[in-house]
Formats: sequence, structure tokens, C-alpha cells
Amino acid sequence: MFQNITIAKDIYYVGVNDRQKSKFENMIPLPNGVSYNSYLIIDEKIALIDTVDISFGNIFIDKIQSQLKDRKIDYLIINHMEPDHSGSIRLMRKYFPDMIIVGNNKTLGMVEGFYGLDDKILEIKDEQILSLGVHKLQFHFTPMVHWPETMMTYDQTVKVLFSGDSFGAFGNLDGAIVDTEMNVDKYWDEMARYYANIVGKYGAAVQKALKKLTPLPFEIICSTHGPVWKENITQVIDIYDQMSRYQGNEGVVIVYGSMYGITELMAETVAQGIAEVGIKEIIIHNVSKTDSSYIIRDIFKYRGLIVGSPTYSNELYPEVESLLRKIEIRGVKNRIFGYFGSFTWAGASVKRLETFMDTMKWKTAEISVEEKQGLKIDNYQACLELGRQVAILVKIPIIDEKHCG
Ligand code: FEO
Repeated sequence: MFQNITIAKDIYYVGVNDRQKSKFENMIPLPNGVSYNSYLIIDEKIALIDTVDISFGNIFIDKIQSQLKDRKIDYLIINHMEPDHSGSIRLMRKYFPDMIIVGNNKTLGMVEGFYGLDDKILEIKDEQILSLGVHKLQFHFTPMVHWPETMMTYDQTVKVLFSGDSFGAFGNLDGAIVDTEMNVDKYWDEMARYYANIVGKYGAAVQKALKKLTPLPFEIICSTHGPVWKENITQVIDIYDQMSRYQGNEGVVIVYGSMYGITELMAETVAQGIAEVGIKEIIIHNVSKTDSSYIIRDIFKYRGLIVGSPTYSNELYPEVESLLRKIEIRGVKNRIFGYFGSFTWAGASVKRLETFMDTMKWKTAEISVEEKQGLKIDNYQACLELGRQVAILVKIPIIDEKHCG
């Protein structure tokens, strides 16, 4: 029944949209859904690249069978084992009992661990080539982008890179699959949110992978999430390069928690100080209102970060504490930092923010602000100054290590 979309000669899109799940990994909101992309290569031998979340197993198998007619899958190539892509492996084996599962040593260990399959497997080595007939597939190991077993598969014949999670974005595919056939504007922020939250911890691994991919003359990127990239490849690679080097744009993110508006007023004042210096990108997030995945995205996008927190039970405001932990886990580098806080009878939040600053080893404004109870004129002025100081540091251009030999 299905007419699958052709991506390149002999390559068909057989992925699905998930418009039902509200949170990716049960944590990250999916207001526009997410696609699980899978691709079928029909040659003398037939290969399937990755599968989809098992919730969509029925529709997935129907799409595949529409393309195969009466033929069978010879190889299932697994670029990544996270269950949003590996979830239908066992189902595939039931439909195609002779199908050979292709992966590296780490992948195959996980295939057995997750799905109990240890027969009809082919372990491949880095840069090994598998011929399907006309199509020659070369495997490139890219560990920790996003799991240890992660690899990419390059079709040398039609210059298509099957990149796994890399270069993926949240968001369903609304009719078209390839970027040339759609307005891609809505995917850029969702690519950044995907990167920052899912892959963000592994910047060094992404840099290594990008260097490894540089010699490959690929003309199409088939990721496991979001659009297939043809005409936006340069921009997509640039986004990954910039984010994995933690190189933020000129702008400042202010994140605050506030129970009764005092820390919020301080945040507004700090923002005014930033604007005075001429920074135009100022993003203010109330940590109790905005999901942290959007805040983390913006922290990856911009160089400046200022955090404000009231003291709560002699600690940081809990939502601020949780956000700081997420930043620490991702090892975000090269940020310009500022901080402020408020308390009623005994201040603790600013001390804790100071400890966070020491942990992150970022460049920091000389001034920090701590107010007792309502905001008063001295600290109002200090908040303006905090904003100015961070803004001035943000305006100093960062030396691009990539171009320094
Ligand atoms: Fe889309 Fe790391 O799985």
C-alpha cells in the first residue's frame, strides 16, 4: 500500500513519525513530535539501515514490505542501539529469519543484551566495506556520538551518509522527507535542542567524528531523526561543529528562579545592564516556567550565562539546582558567567553559585549581587553593573581554536 519516498537511487525512506509520545526519553518535551528514520537499500542484496521504536512496528513492517514485494532483507545494519532505533530488531528477525545483523563488536554485544539475539550476525571493523552489488557500504565508527557503539554507514556509490543521531532534529516530517522539498526553518532550533540535550555531553567525540568524516564526499545526510539533508549540509555541519566546540554566539541567557518576584526583578535589572552595552540577544528564562531542555539549548547557543536564585531551605532554589547539575553533566565550556541571589534571613544561594562557578572554570564578572529581602538602590545599581560586566566580556571575540593551527 505504501509509496515510500526515494532518497537516492535504490534508497527508500521507511521511517515513521511519532506524534503520540509527549516526552523523548521520558524527559524532553516533544511539542512537534519526533521521527524515527530508517532506510532501505534495494540492490542485488537488500539492506535495512536501523529500525524504529517498537510502538510503530506494524506500520514499519508494512512500509518495508510495500517496497520489497516478495524479496527479503539480507542485512540489517545497526548504526545505533538506543531503542528508539533498535526497538524493532526482534520483529525484523521474526519476519526475516535469515537476515544478517551487521554491527561492530559493541553493537553486537548490545543486540544480545537487549534482544537476546546472537546468531546470524556479521561483525564489521572500522572502515570495512560491505558490497550489496552496485552499492558499496563503508562503516565508520564514531563512538560516543551518542553511545559507545555508535557508527555511521557511508554508501560510496551514491555518496549518502547514514549518520545515526548525528545531524538529527526533533520534529515530525510533515509530508516531505528531504530538505529540498520543505521549509526547514522550524528544524534549526529543534536541532540545537536535540544536540544540546542528547549529544551535548560528548563534544570531544563529535569533534573527532567530524574530522573523520571530512574526507568523505557525501552529498546527502540521512540522520535517524528529522529531515534528510541535501541542500543544507554545510549549515548542518557548521551547527554541529560550533556546538561541539561550545562556541556560543554573542548573546546572554539569564536564568532565574523566583518565589515572590524579588529575584525576578533582579533578573530584569541585570538584563537592562546587558542591553546598555549593546548586546541584542538577551534571553530570559524563568526556570519554573520553561522546560530545562529549552534553557540548555540556549546555553549552548550563547556565550553569556547569568544565573539568579533565592535561598530556599538554606540551599539554592531546587529548580535552579537541578539546572546547574544538567549544565555540569554536559561539561559546557567557554561561557562568561555572572550570578546573583536573594534571601530573607540567611543567604546561601550566592555561595552555592560561587561553588558552581569554581567547578565550571568559566570567565566570570567581578561583581556578584546578593540582596536581603526587597531590592534596594545599592543592589539595583549592582545588578545593572553585573549585566554590563558580563556583556562587555561577551563582546570580546573568542579566539577560534580551530583556526589557530
Ligand atoms: Fe535517537 Fe541516541 O537515539
